[in-house]
Amino acid sequence: MKLQGKVALVTGGGHGIGAGIARRLAEAGADVAVAGRKMEPLEAMASEIRGMGRRAAVISADVSQWDQVQNMVKATMDELGGLDIAVNNAGVIRIKGIEEMTEEDWDFIHSVNAKGTFLCCKAEVEAMKPKGWGRIINVSSIAGKEGFPTLSAYSASKFAVVGFTNALAKELARTGITVNAICPGIIATNMWRGDAGLAAKWRKEGETEEESWKRNQAVLIPQGEAQTPEDMGDLAVYLATAPHVTGQSINVCGGVVSH
Ligand SMILES: NC(=O)c1ccc[n+]([C@@H]2O[C@H](COP(=O)([O-])OP(=O)(O)OC[C@H]3O[C@@H](n4cnc5c(N)ncnc54)[C@H](O)[C@@H]3O)[C@@H](O)[C@H]2O)c1
Repeated sequence: MKLQGKVALVTGGGHGIGAGIARRLAEAGADVAVAGRKMEPLEAMASEIRGMGRRAAVISADVSQWDQVQNMVKATMDELGGLDIAVNNAGVIRIKGIEEMTEEDWDFIHSVNAKGTFLCCKAEVEAMKPKGWGRIINVSSIAGKEGFPTLSAYSASKFAVVGFTNALAKELARTGITVNAICPGIIATNMWRGDAGLAAKWRKEGETEEESWKRNQAVLIPQGEAQTPEDMGDLAVYLATAPHVTGQSINVCGGVVSH
């Protein structure tokens, strides 16, 4: 197995894309720590991973808080014996036009998506450098490559992740640590489904959330169907093994964005 003997950490690993990534990393042989704020889904993911014969750890952490991020990395190393692969996936969205968007919305989105990515990378690099090997995989978005209406703050935070990933990769290029990002397209997680999700917010008059979800897939995605969390997991496994891919932000989006 490609990742046997490696230890991975996935933030936001209990839900959606993070769960798909944790699943694929474990299937490829890695022991996996899942971290986040809600314990129940993290525990469920950890027992799935243990069911595959891998070791798992559950860590409570808010990625926007430096002390909690430091503890998260330390707990991974204490419980699983090291840190080889870090997937900084935790993220938040608020869907609002500029008139409605408050300073608090902007700060909240950036504190998790942009600052959270920076804090996680900072702690992870410290753990990986002595070993001279590491794989950091940030999760940005196609909204980190192109703007979408009502996502201006979210988009700005995800563009930040793309730029940060590229600069950090160059800074670390001779340390054995690669830094890349995955840019997911459209996936039916909490970000799209439910009352606060994009399908509901981007509903046309008279449309149900389900109708909006189907229309948005048909209109926005050249392939006509959404991607899955496991699609992101497949790319994470590749990036966790590839020695000479660094500084890249790679779209998995059915053709929505091509740069
Ligand atoms: N779903 C999509 O279509 C889509 C598209 C592009 C990018 N993304 C990105 O993928 C990542 C995962 O999102 P998802 O779609 O699975 O949505 P999700 O809401 O299901 O997952 C987000 C995860 O992040 C965790 N989280 C949020 N704030 C946190 C914090 N401060 N500290 C620790 N954990 C925190 C949540 O608990 C949750 O587990 C996000 O970075 C998101 O921006 C999603």
